[in-house]
Amino acid sequence: MAAKHRTAAELRSHRWLGAQDLRGFGHRSRMQQMGYAPSEFAGRPVIALINTWSDLNPCHSHFRQRAEEIKRGVWQSGGFPVELPALSLSETFMKPTTMFYRNLLAMEVEEMLRSQPIDGAVLMGGCDKTTPGLLMGAISADIPALFMPAGPMLRGNAAGETLGSGSDVWKYWAELRAGTITPAAFAAIEGGIARSPGHCMTMGTASTMTSAVEALGFTLPGFASIPAVDSRHAQAAAASGRRIVAMAWEDLKPSDLLTAASFDNAVTTALALSGSTNAIVHLIALARRAGVPLDLDRFDTLARRTPVLADIRPAGRFLMEDFYYAGGLSALLVELGDLLDLSARTVSGLSLGEAIAGARIFNTEVIRRRGNPLTPSDGLAVLRGSLAPDGAVIKPPAMEARLLRHRGPAVVFEDYADLAARIDDPALVVSAESVLVLRNAGPVGAPGMPEWGQLPIPQKLLRQGVRDMLRISDARMSGTSYGACVLHVAPESAVGGPLALVREGDMIELDVPARRLSLLVEPAEMASRRAAWVAPRPRITRGFGQLHRLHVTQADRGCDFDFLEHGAPTPEPEIH
Ligand code: FES
Repeated sequence: MAAKHRTAAELRSHRWLGAQDLRGFGHRSRMQQMGYAPSEFAGRPVIALINTWSDLNPCHSHFRQRAEEIKRGVWQSGGFPVELPALSLSETFMKPTTMFYRNLLAMEVEEMLRSQPIDGAVLMGGCDKTTPGLLMGAISADIPALFMPAGPMLRGNAAGETLGSGSDVWKYWAELRAGTITPAAFAAIEGGIARSPGHCMTMGTASTMTSAVEALGFTLPGFASIPAVDSRHAQAAAASGRRIVAMAWEDLKPSDLLTAASFDNAVTTALALSGSTNAIVHLIALARRAGVPLDLDRFDTLARRTPVLADIRPAGRFLMEDFYYAGGLSALLVELGDLLDLSARTVSGLSLGEAIAGARIFNTEVIRRRGNPLTPSDGLAVLRGSLAPDGAVIKPPAMEARLLRHRGPAVVFEDYADLAARIDDPALVVSAESVLVLRNAGPVGAPGMPEWGQLPIPQKLLRQGVRDMLRISDARMSGTSYGACVLHVAPESAVGGPLALVREGDMIELDVPARRLSLLVEPAEMASRRAAWVAPRPRITRGFGQLHRLHVTQADRGCDFDFLEHGAPTPEPEIH
């Protein structure tokens, strides 16, 4: 299809900068106040660089430089770049969790784009929630936008060991608690596990979401895999700057790209990567913003047919740097072939199939062939049953296979503080067969559904050699984590889901092949417990926390705010 081409007078920014009236005078005079001659901005697409850089976001510490490179591309193509700082959502430092603030970033982006003279946007993100937050806002604003991913950091390294973000933290923390490594060895890991700018380089939420968003069509081909400090990443930034100017002229908007097929492509990609369970929440939120049907059952359907091809930690052995050298995401998408809709449109102006044509795999250990997958299916599994009527999720490739079918007695923790206080208590009655249950860790209860779902294994079991056991919560889990962790239980306990009614010693049964999660308690007993249940007091009752509590949806709906899901568009601002 031939791309359309808007005239300068049809650009959105023309309403601010082109009008020969009092307001136009004001806007142009203030541009000149900043040192720009009219010839530098008149009639050019105004391109916003939504930059989630901050001094507290190590994953984006190269974004000031990348912004300059994006601007270079914008200028080269005749656009006018404006850099707009946005909430940084530093996964490492924000408490209780960046997820609590994802929707705040999304609102900020939507309103920044809508209220200002912007014709196109480059969304600069990568650290976990920045990717969905930026995209959710851009989808709602429906202004031409492309995503420029931060890129993964280099492999970690200490004492001759290759280290992966998160995954090796959990692994060596468990070994330290088990007494099998020394504090000095652990300190050496601390110094070497994050040694360059860029997002986590395991297949955590960051790598999963940047890859899924590329498959969704929002990133120029191949860019999600380039390590943050590779010179090709800087070149990708400039190329993104050049392309967004063309998109602004073409008026190629998110609504032109997003279909059920493009979301299937994103989900299939996340599954083939054995990606983070967080992607389920985020992709559902994105789809609901776009008005495209996508639910938990679609993930399960696609999981049953999608092989895991990326041998990347925590499910596999390698890291994102290896993935890039092995051919990167484009090569993996070529290998997925008929499991994708290659006719889906992308920001490149090409179909997905055209965009990845010619990519090939250079290392079939890192990117497996379909005939030799890491696992033939079930990168994720959606569970339902009496303990999770609206669904829960688990990541089978990242757990010990003996736990795929398991029955055991519950050990219940009321909230995270209770867990922290008692998990290593020598008096805790627990065995390897027990099922650890954490409640009040969901979207409303925590609040913000933190990544507490990889409950630590009790120290006394670690010392017995136990490294995995069944754990259940209404929390999320970092994509860099692993283990038999049932997550996103919906409805959550704080709103009265069955998780709220579990008692110490209740038998719980997990059957992943049957996709079932059952609390083996008689209905009459459940009814009497429900009648006696009292909702916990909210932890935050003012400000953004209050807004969040009143409007956040449950995990199976994406944890967006109910009033931000797809609906009538907000009108363009009046300019008076
Ligand atoms: Fe930023 Fe992991 S801390 S992606």
